[in-house]
Amino acid sequence: MLTTAAATTSGVPIQIQEVEKVYLTKDGPVHALAGVSLDIAPGEFISIVGPSGCGKSTLMMLVAGLVPVTSGQIRIANQPVTRPQTELGIVFQDAVLLDWRTVLDNVLLQQEIRRLPRAPLEQRARELLAMVGLAGFEQKHPYELSGGMRQRTAICRALVHDPPLLLMDEPFGALDALTREQIAHDLQRLWLQTGKTVLFITHSIVESVLLSDRVVVMTPRPGRIEEVLTIDLPRPRRLDETERSDFTRYTTHIRRIFRAQGVLSE
Ligand SMILES: Nc1ncnc2c1ncn2[C@@H]1O[C@H](COP(=O)(O)OP(=O)(O)OP(=O)(O)O)[C@@H](O)[C@H]1O
Ligand SMILES: [Mg+2]
Repeated sequence: MLTTAAATTSGVPIQIQEVEKVYLTKDGPVHALAGVSLDIAPGEFISIVGPSGCGKSTLMMLVAGLVPVTSGQIRIANQPVTRPQTELGIVFQDAVLLDWRTVLDNVLLQQEIRRLPRAPLEQRARELLAMVGLAGFEQKHPYELSGGMRQRTAICRALVHDPPLLLMDEPFGALDALTREQIAHDLQRLWLQTGKTVLFITHSIVESVLLSDRVVVMTPRPGRIEEVLTIDLPRPRRLDETERSDFTRYTTHIRRIFRAQGVLSE
């Protein structure tokens, strides 16, 4: 049974305005992003797809405030991002769990770092773990888990302090196809229940259409937004619907864009 206690803070709006990013390297400047603008509504699920090196991870680091913009501006909840943001959760390709801590204590890492009260956070951690099918695994250690279970744990860790924004950079990239489908399905459910704003980077066109309200398709470097597709399909979306024509018209369209760019994906 799913509860609502894990979802007290819902999503925030994000404005990305004419953002440009140039990295200065010893070999000269690298123009990673050029003029990226995007308005994200509170609670929206946005996927970003695009060729390798087009600046997807860069964009995420800029939103997180971990890397400064070269020009333009990013606003989260109407506040300009000028330093590392604390009111968000991040999930990377590898779960990066601490092997000496239990699953529950890994999820509670932010509670310790932020010195938040243990009892309510522990309750939320247990609820989140149950929501992704990990009830009963709280006292296991990461090395006792499968890759999919580790990544589920990482998602719970990113959400335990109840941030309004979740950033995910190819979170399922290291998983096998079957686990990946299942965990994508679980993420959709979690999102439907929590109403967080999600920025999700993926190489999988099917995954992007399955999960998103809108899919942002980027150009090769320097990354620009080529097209933003609104995915007008009812939710919850099911994996067995991905072969249906109303689903494949989106995936075919995105593949066509990549083919026109001379980029192969999937
Ligand atoms: N810290 C950095 N210093 C210098 N150049 C960087 C840095 N980070 C990224 N870049 C460059 O910026 C460009 C965009 O990189 P980024 O990692 O954002 O791409 P990406 O779309 O996430 O690629 P992938 O799909 O392979 O993960 C690349 O050319 C990369 O080499
Ligand atoms: Mg990347």
